Amino acid sequence: MKKDAKENMPNGHLHELMLDELKDIFNAEKQLLKGLKLMQSKAKEEAVRAVFTSHLAETEQQVEKLKQAFNLLDLPVRGKKCKAMEGLLKEAEEIIGDFEDTEALDAALIAAAQKIEHYEIASYGTLATYAKMMKHDDVAAIFAEILEEEKNADEKLTEVAMSHGNKE
Ligand SMILES: [Fe+2]
Repeated sequence: MKKDAKENMPNGHLHELMLDELKDIFNAEKQLLKGLKLMQSKAKEEAVRAVFTSHLAETEQQVEKLKQAFNLLDLPVRGKKCKAMEGLLKEAEEIIGDFEDTEALDAALIAAAQKIEHYEIASYGTLATYAKMMKHDDVAAIFAEILEEEKNADEKLTEVAMSHGNKE
């Protein structure tokens, strides 16, 4: 951000905070692409795999939508390592390893994925609020749209967990 541009902004620090969050979630989504591919390949039940497959496609689109947000804010498309997502994915890998050969593997995958969705829901909720407060309505609309997708993904995971659990 140019210095004079920042000084003219009434909410300079809030703006910086929003950019920081945007860079974080952009990197998080890119990390998640790999994580979802892994979960998709490990899922045993078709219905569980299907949720990962559709959210993977959605996540690819989300990365593009975030690039648009950077463009609308006149910023270079650049992420910043999201340590939270790194940790969540590390835990996911661990739990996959621990339950790999058990009938609880799909349940473990769903649990790991829901923790990730909740992180994303918190992030996009914050981003949408910040963008609205600073009257970046176009960017706020992008964040709100992705927020809805994450909430839907979380609901789908809950549904599939319930039917999966009932079968067992
Ligand atoms: Fe996402």
